[in-house]
Amino acid sequence: MIIIDPEKGVVRTVTNGKEESFSISSSEAFSIVSKAWLRCGWDTKYVYGFTWLGRPIIQLPDDMLRIQEVIYSLKPSVIIETGIAHGGSLVYYASLCKLIGRGKVIGVDVEIRPHNRTAIETHELFPYITLIEGSSVELAVVNRVKEMVGSQDTVLVVLDSNHTKDHVLRELECYAPLVTKNSYAVASDGIMKDLAGAPRSNSDWQTNNPYCAAQEFAAKHKDFVIEQPTWRFNESNGLSENVTYWPGAWLKKIT
Ligand SMILES: C[S@@+](CC[C@H](N)C(=O)[O-])C[C@H]1O[C@@H](n2cnc3c(N)ncnc32)[C@H](O)[C@@H]1O
Repeated sequence: MIIIDPEKGVVRTVTNGKEESFSISSSEAFSIVSKAWLRCGWDTKYVYGFTWLGRPIIQLPDDMLRIQEVIYSLKPSVIIETGIAHGGSLVYYASLCKLIGRGKVIGVDVEIRPHNRTAIETHELFPYITLIEGSSVELAVVNRVKEMVGSQDTVLVVLDSNHTKDHVLRELECYAPLVTKNSYAVASDGIMKDLAGAPRSNSDWQTNNPYCAAQEFAAKHKDFVIEQPTWRFNESNGLSENVTYWPGAWLKKIT
């Protein structure tokens, strides 16, 4: 249980009968309230309320600002995203490529609905985008993506398709080899681990999720570590952890 009392300036929690109290000005309180806010946002479908340059983008804005920080410092020449849906995130990454003056975006989806395809293909930023229809783990699809990546490219991979642990692990095996040193494979939506029991969740989400896939992948592949990218600017009062739908998502290629 969480009690937020702005008048007294405290956040109180009761977990398994243990009571704790934190100043509302503390980083601990911010973390507790953020986690509750994320859960509330899941139930109310908060992330289903944004567009980017006209296309619905199903992402937490915090995650998009954070990945923008990574893209601006890394300046990838290729961004690969599995899971297109309405195309908002593809257009978002394409818009950053245009502003930075470098990069292209490859999107993979098992089903690109005709109205979404038309909207993406007629978008101003479509010259930066390649659409590939098919399952992200199908060999022909993986090979098509690989053909579009050159040995000199700087590659960032974002996995946002089917979020079962097994599928994300298979995607990581397919696409992580393309990730270049100091770049990332991002296994998005690990928030599922904290949402088991919530509406629109499955009972196995505590373990069947991208967070667990990333952990297992990193344990096996010593050339990757799980590491949240450092904030580029931080004058906060002691905050350092992302407010995110992507906990434990950032698999950094270190060698
Ligand atoms: C969460 S949505 C993607 C949201 C999008 N990245 C955005 O930010 O707006 C997930 C998408 O993954 C696609 N998908 C599901 N299984 C897939 C698979 N095996 N291969 C590729 N895409 C898949 C679905 O069709 C759906 O469009």
